Amino acid sequence: MPIKQMKNIEFDVIIIGAGAAGLMCAAIAGQAGRKVLLLDHAKKPGEKIRISGGGRCNFTNLYCSAENFVSQNSHFCKSALAEYQQHDFISLVEKYNIGWHEKTLGQLFCNGRSTQIIDMLLAECALGSVELLLDTKIGQVQQQGSCFHINTSNGNFTANSLVMACGGLSIPKMGATGFGYKIARQFDLKIIDTAPALVPFSLEQVFGQPVTGLSGVSLPVRVMCNGAVFDEAMLFTHRGLSGPAILQISSYWQPGDKVMVDLLPDIDFLAVAKTARAANPKQSPLGFLSGLLPKRLASYIVTSLPQQRMGDISDKSFLSLAKQLKSWHITPTNTLGYKIAEVTRGGVDTDELSSKTMQAKSVDGLYFIGEVVDVTGHLGGHNFQWAWASGYACGRSL
Ligand code: FDA
Repeated sequence: MPIKQMKNIEFDVIIIGAGAAGLMCAAIAGQAGRKVLLLDHAKKPGEKIRISGGGRCNFTNLYCSAENFVSQNSHFCKSALAEYQQHDFISLVEKYNIGWHEKTLGQLFCNGRSTQIIDMLLAECALGSVELLLDTKIGQVQQQGSCFHINTSNGNFTANSLVMACGGLSIPKMGATGFGYKIARQFDLKIIDTAPALVPFSLEQVFGQPVTGLSGVSLPVRVMCNGAVFDEAMLFTHRGLSGPAILQISSYWQPGDKVMVDLLPDIDFLAVAKTARAANPKQSPLGFLSGLLPKRLASYIVTSLPQQRMGDISDKSFLSLAKQLKSWHITPTNTLGYKIAEVTRGGVDTDELSSKTMQAKSVDGLYFIGEVVDVTGHLGGHNFQWAWASGYACGRSL
């Protein structure tokens, strides 16, 4: 299917970006009889699919719905998600006999390697006779009348429809560029400010001590920021905080914001502490706290209690400890940035696009799909579901 060199060739549709959204869109448009050219500057298609989910691709989520997305317009994603649902993608995966399993919280992973998903999408593209041109640098994009002209390092191409599927800014080492935003600006479309999302926080000190001493400690927590709440695991790292709870809340965090962490979700600490004091007054506070929290973390926290035995600790001290544990406020220095962020928040303003087709309202024939759009999924397969759904909505409208 890959083609080597072409000159001035006309297509119905040109798609820039052979990632998750671009591959899906190309397959659907091709199978509907459109002559499709899929371009990418990378040497291989679907590189992020390949590395996703630890190499097993968390390809969708059983419970995916509009509530799992961050966007200036929380309604925009509804139509596409309803038209192409998680069950549609599961059916496709099953058609190709790709084994899968639910890991946790509805997250579906391949039993084998994620390359199975790439191969499946390439096979679907082949069914639609999609022409795939990789290792191709995209130059100028111009619209003349109803036609888009694309100059590339492998020839010049024209089409009546141009689909931008070139993702966000996350992980530049894997080929991420801001090209989709550049084209949006060229056509005077608004962009919602972008930021790294699903990304760890940097933080130097916790409970007045270096975070490095807790590196590797993990526990279930409840995190809150700007109205969002997640109950998942948090991990201390040598650079700050990570783990699913932190990645999730990072999508709602702006520099300077505080994040509230409940280190003992669903535990009435005051009641538990009073009961423990009555039952075992000679127990050390560290011994008691180590029964509720990882020991290394307990030893960081217990330094705020001068007393040696549980029996000597007043209700007031328990109350202030409860506050520390149940509403621990942190102000991250920053995130670890696009270099390791799983996705980019923000992007092409959904007000500029049709939610049914992903076409720009002000530019006939220009479409934006996938991560380049201001629709960012929670952790757990929702970003791929958005890529499939937006790619499908666009592909079938072409
Ligand atoms: P995507 O980034 O997939 O594709 C964009 C394509 O455009 C790339 O092929 C790129 O080379 C190309 N491109 C970019 N600039 C270009 C230019 N200037 N010229 C030509 N081509 C250009 N999500 C999920 O749901 N489940 C998961 O398990 C994971 N796991 C995961 C792990 C890691 C490490 C990362 C970084 C991300 C994830 N994600 C994820 C997120 C998921 O990978 C992401 O949301 C989708 O890949 C987005 O699909 P798109 O097709 O929009 O962009």
